[in-house]
Amino acid sequence: MTTNLTLGFDVYGTLIDTHGVVVELEKYIGDLAPCFSQIWREKQLEYTFRRGLMEQYQPFGVCTKDALEYTNLILSCGLDEQQKSTLIQCYSTLPAFDDAIAGLEQAKAAGFTLFAFSNGQEAAVNQVLENAGISKYFTGTVSVDDLKTFKPNPAVYEYFVKKTHADKSSAWLVSSNGFDVIGAVSAGMKAAWVHRSTSVVYDPWGIQPTLTVSSLDGLSKVLT
Ligand code: 2OP
Repeated sequence: MTTNLTLGFDVYGTLIDTHGVVVELEKYIGDLAPCFSQIWREKQLEYTFRRGLMEQYQPFGVCTKDALEYTNLILSCGLDEQQKSTLIQCYSTLPAFDDAIAGLEQAKAAGFTLFAFSNGQEAAVNQVLENAGISKYFTGTVSVDDLKTFKPNPAVYEYFVKKTHADKSSAWLVSSNGFDVIGAVSAGMKAAWVHRSTSVVYDPWGIQPTLTVSSLDGLSKVLT
């Protein structure tokens, strides 16, 4: 493979661990925190899919807030406004996954051009990357907010290629989110699926990732 690659790193769930909210949640709801975090994240994504289909776009942050409200209701947690506000603030200080820095360092050293590519609005994405100490690796951020729709609408992958001035044959999505990988491959991009945990199952749609890695650490070696 060539070294002249443009890599679009998915942010939430790939570089940034959305389940970092568990630490704060545990203070309020104890052992229910992991379950709350799981439902919150799944509902957040469901809301993006539904808003995309309905053509009722609202920024990713709204989907995050609405999903938090839903999760609080379905689990009858009774979180108050202050607690919910703190949890939303946590979203800008979520941690990077342990393998992120090594993977990004290696990708830069290999001569690849790195972009953050996210459902999140540009300012929110830049903030979370900055707070997690990984913003310096990126040439820029491509946000689907520019198109007022969400992944996996094929338009957002086309937009990534256009906005980064990449050649489609050398543009890669790097994502742990199976729906994102399937969306990118279906739209004609290449995609690396970051499969960190064997408990995560890839959707059996017959649309395979271009390649699969178990960690961002080592991805560049496979790409070069
Ligand atoms: C992102 O676009 C899908 O949440 C994921 O950052």
